[in-house]
Amino acid sequence: MADFFLPKNSKVQKGRVHASSTAGKVKKFKVYRYDPDSGENPRYDTFEVDTDNCGPMVLDALIKMKSEQDSSLTFRRSCREGICGSCSMNIDGKNGLACTTAIEDCKSEVTITPLPHMEVIKDLVPDFTHFYAQYASIKPWLQTVTPEPSGKERLQSPEDRAKLDGLYECILCACCSTSCPSYWWNSDKFLGPAILLQAYRWLADSRDEMTGERLDELEDPFRLYRCHTIMNCANACPKGLNPAKAIAETKKMVAERHI
Ligand code: SF4
Ligand code: SF4
Ligand code: FES
Repeated sequence: MADFFLPKNSKVQKGRVHASSTAGKVKKFKVYRYDPDSGENPRYDTFEVDTDNCGPMVLDALIKMKSEQDSSLTFRRSCREGICGSCSMNIDGKNGLACTTAIEDCKSEVTITPLPHMEVIKDLVPDFTHFYAQYASIKPWLQTVTPEPSGKERLQSPEDRAKLDGLYECILCACCSTSCPSYWWNSDKFLGPAILLQAYRWLADSRDEMTGERLDELEDPFRLYRCHTIMNCANACPKGLNPAKAIAETKKMVAERHI
């Protein structure tokens, strides 16, 4: 009979409890802890957070845990305004931004893990190397061949500018890509919803003159067509964007080239 083994570090070990040092109303946060360099298996630590003396958002709670209970707790954050995309993580089973997720909207015991299906660098910090390489692969900048009109900027009509609404707001947090089953299983070749939305942002830009070349790059059974319209991406986006729609528009542009 075949023997099956769990991969190394897939067993969760017993976590630690970090008690609150103040006497206010306590809420429990179960937080994923993993340091690949330590050689130890991952664990869930329980942090008791005094929410009477804490800001309203999950990021406020994480900052309080790090400041007052365990300074080794590791997570990314910068703007705390839902703009930089760095605090993306999984909160109570849903991908989102810690800085825009209210503690009072979470379960009575909040579970926080890194974004799913990404390598973990430490605790809540996933490795975005591959994601950023995929982003670079779509050449996310304006490409033109014609000279700028009389040395000035390239103008765009308000109507053409409006076509970028719902696209330019993407903060590359990867909440959508890491909630997409097709991306989980094929992220080596499938670009995933975030990068495909970004690719469409340049296809939809009236000033860009590389539409044909961009579509050539995307027309591939894996890069674009691994999207099966499951729609997890649109449900996960904390900015209310719809990557599935951008993907559908891209597929339409590809199809129209063959008519
Ligand atoms: S619609 Fe496409 S990209 Fe979005 S979650 Fe589904 S398979 Fe992934
Ligand atoms: S589309 Fe939304 S979820 Fe996806 S990377 Fe952009 S902002 Fe994040
Ligand atoms: S800290 Fe910038 S999006 Fe949350």
